[in-house]
Amino acid sequence: MDKKFTMLKNKAIIIGITGGIAAFKTAELVRALTKRGASVHVVMTKNAMEFVTPLTFQTISGNPVAHEMFQLFSGSKIGHIVLSDIADQMVIVPATANIIGKIANGIADDFLTTMAMATTVPVLFVPSMNTKMWESKMVQANLQKLKDAGYESMEPGSGDLACGTSGRGRLPTIEEILEKMEDIFTDKDLVNERILVTAGPTMEFIDPVRCITNRSSGKMGYAVAKIARRRGAEVILITGKTYLPPPRTDMEIIEVTTAWEMRDAVMEHYKPCTIIIKAAAVADFRCKNENCQKIKKKGDSSSISLELEKNPDILAELGKVKENRILIGFAAETENVFDHAIEKLKKKHLDLIIANNVAQSGIGFGSDNNEVTIIDKSGSMKHVPILSKDEIANIILDSVKKVLKKRKVVEDDWY
Ligand code: CTP
Repeated sequence: MDKKFTMLKNKAIIIGITGGIAAFKTAELVRALTKRGASVHVVMTKNAMEFVTPLTFQTISGNPVAHEMFQLFSGSKIGHIVLSDIADQMVIVPATANIIGKIANGIADDFLTTMAMATTVPVLFVPSMNTKMWESKMVQANLQKLKDAGYESMEPGSGDLACGTSGRGRLPTIEEILEKMEDIFTDKDLVNERILVTAGPTMEFIDPVRCITNRSSGKMGYAVAKIARRRGAEVILITGKTYLPPPRTDMEIIEVTTAWEMRDAVMEHYKPCTIIIKAAAVADFRCKNENCQKIKKKGDSSSISLELEKNPDILAELGKVKENRILIGFAAETENVFDHAIEKLKKKHLDLIIANNVAQSGIGFGSDNNEVTIIDKSGSMKHVPILSKDEIANIILDSVKKVLKKRKVVEDDWY
């Protein structure tokens, strides 16, 4: 099983494949779903079988593939009714202009269209087609009809298309489709919150080609931003340079390089936020005299000195102006983890601090996993064993919810 935190585990997913060139990519989606512990049942249209074969999908999913209108399942039961009964979510990928038009207009003339109309579970359309078709009034009107009828849909991506042109119409990435599917299953319990997350390392220049930075990959902060958005919060992500794809496309992402740039971006954006989560690894020092030319290794000198000066402590600054915002910091420690973390929590006026031992191998910097202890203002600690960063992010957000609930109780008692 994929170690990622997932709502897809043990879910029955119906994957409907229609006749588009992107049909071959669906095989990768089916594999990713089975790796996440979902049971996948594939339904194909006749046109889909021009591009890919049922055998491929039967092999990957481990389940029979449905493609005949009157296919019988388990004895005398009609296939689309059986699948409707067991399904938790249905995804049509790729969704062509044809399938969008048919279902939007109530045409049920094959297994897939019948199934999409017979089911009461969420149905997600993942379109992929030529740009002109995508932009056509008919496709857009049909999509609107589907949305009005409660169907879910995704926007296609942009790039080179199979028809030799370039533009909007590409199938979204497998990660984006999985994220949308997770999103559909997730309770929107942070819907009224606006969360600012910082992530990644900052970078301080020595000269135009060299810099001081740290080993932060940004994965923890990106996971917090993604899960917060999945749970319905509005998210602004302020990030140092990372090698990660954006966690989601539906959040504001501001890229910065230095600690000062991060500080300025945070100060510009924190005010409308209700929660601030500072997962960034901010460089504490920068070069006092940044060279505007590359430093040359002159003469025989075997050493060089760099004079460093302190960077702003963004979290400490926020602690002074936070008012009733919830402020959460991370403490990256290599020794006396809890003592140092509690000291930071108090000094920076935090509501929660997430302490982690970055010296422990297999977790922390660069890893997909982490092991943390969440400490609140009263000193109570919650130890979270090694889990994926997505799952840790979810648990951190549960702790944030608890702080919100406690506040609500105090406010209610007050009135
Ligand atoms: N932080 C910050 N600005 C800094 C340094 C740290 O906002 N200049 C934030 C980090 O984002 C993190 C928290 O403060 O949420 C703690 O960071 P950490 O590096 O563990 O500790 P420092 O406060 O820098 O202290 P030290 O390096 O001495 O451990």
